[in-house]
Order: sequence, then C-alpha cells, then structure tokens
Amino acid sequence: MPESRIIVALDYSNETDAWHFIDKLEPQLCRLKVGKELFTIAGPRFVERLVSKGYDVFLDLKFHDIPNTVAQACKAAAGLGIWMINVHALGGRKMMLAARQAMSDSNTRLIAVTLLTSMDQDDLTDIGLQGTPEQIVERLAQLAKDCGLDGVVCSALEARRLRQRLGDDFCLVTPGIRPADGQSDDQKRVTTPKQAILNGAHYLVIGRPITQAKNPVLICQNINSEISESAPNY
Ligand code: C5P
Repeated sequence: MPESRIIVALDYSNETDAWHFIDKLEPQLCRLKVGKELFTIAGPRFVERLVSKGYDVFLDLKFHDIPNTVAQACKAAAGLGIWMINVHALGGRKMMLAARQAMSDSNTRLIAVTLLTSMDQDDLTDIGLQGTPEQIVERLAQLAKDCGLDGVVCSALEARRLRQRLGDDFCLVTPGIRPADGQSDDQKRVTTPKQAILNGAHYLVIGRPITQAKNPVLICQNINSEISESAPNY
C-alpha cells in the first residue's frame, strides 16, 4: 500500500481527547500533525509515543527566531524521531540555512511556512512588506528552496504555480482541504483532496473533516483511494 498523503491535524486541547481519536487509527491510513496547542500541553513525550506507534509526525511549531536558536530547536525536534518540522521563511536566509545545516545528518524533512493565510494586503502594508500576497509567497518559497529546505506549506490554490516554478522534488503541503460533500467550517477557500493533488500538492493537511467524523477510518480510506487515482509519482 502506498504511503498516505493525508496529514491529520491533531487540533486537540488535551492528550486524552487526542488519544481517544488516535486509538481509532493506524499509521498506514495517515500521518499526524501536532501543533503549538497540543505540543504545549502534551510535550515531547507525547510526540515520541506517536513515533513509537509507527506514525510519521509533522511537528508544526513554525520556528522563527535568531538563526542559532532555530537551528538548535530544529535539531532538538529532529531528535524526537519526527518526520517533518517547519520554520517561518520570514526568518530569512541565514535562519533557514542554519536550520538546514543543523539537520544535515537527520532524515527529518524541513519545510517553511511562507505567508500566513490569515494575512491580507492590509496586514502586509502594516508591516512594510511590498508586493501582493501571491508575489511574497512565491518569493519566500523560492528562498526556502534556495536555502535547501525540502518544501513549503501553501494553499492548494497556490500549489499549481509553485509546482511549476519550483519543480517536482519540492514538497508542497496544503491545508484548507474539504471532501467534496463536506462542510467548510471556518476555512474560506477550500479545495477537494483530488483537486489539491492535481494542482501539485504532495501532502494534504486535514483536520475537522477527519477528527470530527463518526468513522474517521472510513474517511481516510475514501480520501486515500480518491487521490491514489490522480496522484503523480512525486
Ligand atoms: O480542521 P481543518 O482541516 O480546517 O484544519 C486545518 C489545519 O491546518 C489546522 O491545524 C490549521 O491550523 C492548519 N492550517 C490552516 N491554514 C493554513 C495553515 C495551517 O488551516 N494556512
């Protein structure tokens, strides 16, 4: 069975609820994303337990600090045995190069967040960034690639252009995914799993459509088979 391209976002406020959900799953069905809230409350031992159960874990802590601090944090995260970690591309070239260097003997993938999708043109003006959000996303994604990072988080709507510009080996991880028959929750611009893959996404971050489903295993199986038909070989 091919490895799943689904990354389930474990957006839980406590470990008990998270385990209640995870105990229904198997590592073949999906990978797992642990973000700031759950990591802050459950900590590195929780992450290590997920890894020991066979899960590929994406630790979504979006590091952004001086180069040395981010490099050491990435190294510490990689030491947990996780599959993927991320930093903010806005931390700049030196920070990303230091992170890459610190993880040079690790198999953990290092990706970047370009621009938070919560930021619009007014927010960019506020902080003095010139250009449209699309231009800044492309620029930061190119910078991440130039620094040797393995990929970026981006919306499925940006994926097509980034795939063309950055090539097939650059990993695109896309949230904002909703199955065709699902509700959109608070996501404003959503894409179906199949369309995101056709646009060039490698991995799909999916939270509530799976975590709040009556039968999360069935939803994962359906999405896995839906995208296996359209997934290219990268
Ligand atoms: O429940 P839902 O599928 O909307 O969850 C999506 C996950 O992806 C959440 O963990 C959210 O924080 C994350 N995310 C996002 N949009 C981004 C970046 C990350 O929804 N631009």
